Amino acid sequence: MRILVVGKGGREHALVRALAESPEPPTIFCFPGSDAIFELAAPVPATGLESLVAWMQSHAIDLCVAGEESYLVTGEGLANLCARAGIPCWGPPKQAAQLEASKEFAKGFLLRNAIPTARATACDTFDEALAAIAGEYPTVLKFDGLAAGKGVAVCPDAASARGFLDEVLVQQRFGAGRVLVEQCLTGPEVSVFAAIVDDDYLIFTPARDYKRIGDGDCGPNTGGMGAVASRQLVPPDVLARIEAEIVRPTVDGLRREGLPYRGFLYFGIMLTPSGPQVIEYNCRFGDPECQAVMPLVRGDLAGFCLAGAQGRLRRDLLTFDAGWSVCVILASAGYPDASHSGDRIAGLDAIGNARVYHAGTRKTAAGDWETHGGRVLAVVADAASRAEAVARAHAAADQIHFAGLQRRRDIGLLHFS
Ligand code: AMP
Ligand code: GLY
Repeated sequence: MRILVVGKGGREHALVRALAESPEPPTIFCFPGSDAIFELAAPVPATGLESLVAWMQSHAIDLCVAGEESYLVTGEGLANLCARAGIPCWGPPKQAAQLEASKEFAKGFLLRNAIPTARATACDTFDEALAAIAGEYPTVLKFDGLAAGKGVAVCPDAASARGFLDEVLVQQRFGAGRVLVEQCLTGPEVSVFAAIVDDDYLIFTPARDYKRIGDGDCGPNTGGMGAVASRQLVPPDVLARIEAEIVRPTVDGLRREGLPYRGFLYFGIMLTPSGPQVIEYNCRFGDPECQAVMPLVRGDLAGFCLAGAQGRLRRDLLTFDAGWSVCVILASAGYPDASHSGDRIAGLDAIGNARVYHAGTRKTAAGDWETHGGRVLAVVADAASRAEAVARAHAAADQIHFAGLQRRRDIGLLHFS
């Protein structure tokens, strides 16, 4: 099988590695890819989506796997172009990917399908948004578009809300677009992933990510400083509720609204005192949750994704390890406000009992690895117990060094559940 994976981050490194470990190892290509990914997958000489799909056609690609969301909604959309070219694609068409690309669309979908979620009002102007907040703090403000994880603010007071509204609606930091004023929910968060094939689905191992830069969940939000994944993370009765009240109605809603979906769908869920509620949808796997979940997936991921892209949910091809997996992110100096490139990474050869996925690295001409981005590496270990997975992941992370390295020491602890 010849597979092309689209994306370049730690998530795609984990996906490529999991696909490569399928029982009949496929030939893998990656676009745009990274130096580390290119050790497992060949690069593709494309310049954009159109040339990428033309390349896939002329190189007999059997399956396209969408890792990163942006390509799903760029131009005509990756899955739409693949469909036109007759190439099976694991990742949804542009219309369905609006679930991630437009928070207003997602909110409308949730409400139409009676799926539990926070109340929200879409606003065009600063004054309209202030009126919608109606003095109720904390409030949650969301830019209605892709903003690389930076378009959401939980505002404790009027000053912070005014600051965000000014940045987004007046200065248009993320471009033109509306803002959703949303009721603030409370409770632990969980990321649930389903592989959806039309009207059927398979729920993967749930995970939790650690969004803030500092231990104990302090400091600014990041793309994710680590993750923990396990079937045991969510009690069976809660998972059954998530499935009955959120996953099944979402899959039914997609079908009813004429939005065919084949690919991973990520449900960002808050376990509120009154039950699970949807915070967001993402039309892809999570990053860094993917790096934590993939080592727990056993079986034939390549065969599963190909069959799914062709319209058959082959749940017989996969099983999920019952244990725990912990993913510790190593970030570069200055992250999340900035990042630092060119710091030499030492200790990678010493890692035995863990997996290392590269997010922001580059290989020098001399063959050394150096930092090349904010989140640099993900160090992942799994074990039967959470304590053992935590100990192994952190012990492995201790082996790696570079100037300005930042990491959390509490990844895998569930102190905020
Ligand atoms: P999102 O990009 O929609 O996932 O939002 C980023 C983060 O903001 C979430 O992971 C939550 O921690 C927080 N958040 C989003 N929506 C809400 C909400 N309605 N109530 C409380 N926190 C929220
Ligand atoms: N871990 C959060 C995300 O992938 O959006």
